[in-house]
Amino acid sequence: MSGASGKPDWLVGQDILTVKQFDAEQLADIFERTDRMRDIVRQRGGTDILARRVLAALFYEPSTRTSASFIAAMERLGGSVIPITQGVQFSSVSKGESLPDTIRTLEQYADVIVLRHPLVGSASEAAEAASVPVLNAGDGAGEHPTQALLDLYTIRDELGRLDGLKIAMVGDLRFGRTVHSLTRLLSKYDVELSFVSPEILRLPLDLMNEARDAGLKVRETYSVADVIDQVDVLYMTRVQKERFTDLEQYEELKGFYVITPELMRQARRDMIVMHPLPRVGEIAPEVDDDPRAAYFRQVKNGMYVRMALLAGVLGKE
Ligand code: NCD
Repeated sequence: MSGASGKPDWLVGQDILTVKQFDAEQLADIFERTDRMRDIVRQRGGTDILARRVLAALFYEPSTRTSASFIAAMERLGGSVIPITQGVQFSSVSKGESLPDTIRTLEQYADVIVLRHPLVGSASEAAEAASVPVLNAGDGAGEHPTQALLDLYTIRDELGRLDGLKIAMVGDLRFGRTVHSLTRLLSKYDVELSFVSPEILRLPLDLMNEARDAGLKVRETYSVADVIDQVDVLYMTRVQKERFTDLEQYEELKGFYVITPELMRQARRDMIVMHPLPRVGEIAPEVDDDPRAAYFRQVKNGMYVRMALLAGVLGKE
């Protein structure tokens, strides 16, 4: 099958489980599709290319943006959604149904399944059980590929390029799945990465090695002040409370980094601040009016990217 671009339609029927599955050419194609979705929404609000198609959105962990943006994306494409969101406690999951059984049931109704689940590898397990595409919306501290795609799209959209950029990721680099996916995606470009975290929340070694093996210049520090005057992108993250067994330790770590207007005075005029959100104190609200605060624009891009992915896996552009 060929897409509108004449290229073979590589995205049709695909699961989206990890960013490892994409090469640079495919990423460029996803961003082109995303641009088209953005134009459609801006000009007409939406389209009906996914009319009579159904998405099952199964969220075993809390979500606001990811679930809402997948629902909005599906509806703006003319499709509809079975939301099993926040309400998993009211579904058969709470009766002890296995993930493969839940997935095999939902695919009887739906053409595509979006899954968020607390266990690393759960999306792959679901994809093995499913005959329809499964999109990973976060598997524990593993990956969050659609978030990383929207993050990358945002960087490219805001700064006009990816190659040559200096990017710092700050906060919970150990448990933050968005950081894991974004680090892997950025390793496909010519960028410099700084990882800023307390010792205990450092980026896992395998990810650090992946970035180094890809030829990137990487550095680690625990101080934002070390990097803020140099970076093009400051990517803030929340300390992932739900991954801690020792809540006292979480309490000690949660306020470690706070971006304030004072700190922003040291940053470059043409840089951006990003955050996958929710924030719980990492960026002072007073920073929101700074034109460099890109996190709400980032949210909107999430809907466009997810429109491109849903349409793509279902064979539409
Ligand atoms: C992130 C997640 O769920 O991993 N949120 C999101 O999807 N935008 C980040 C977080 O919860 O801290």
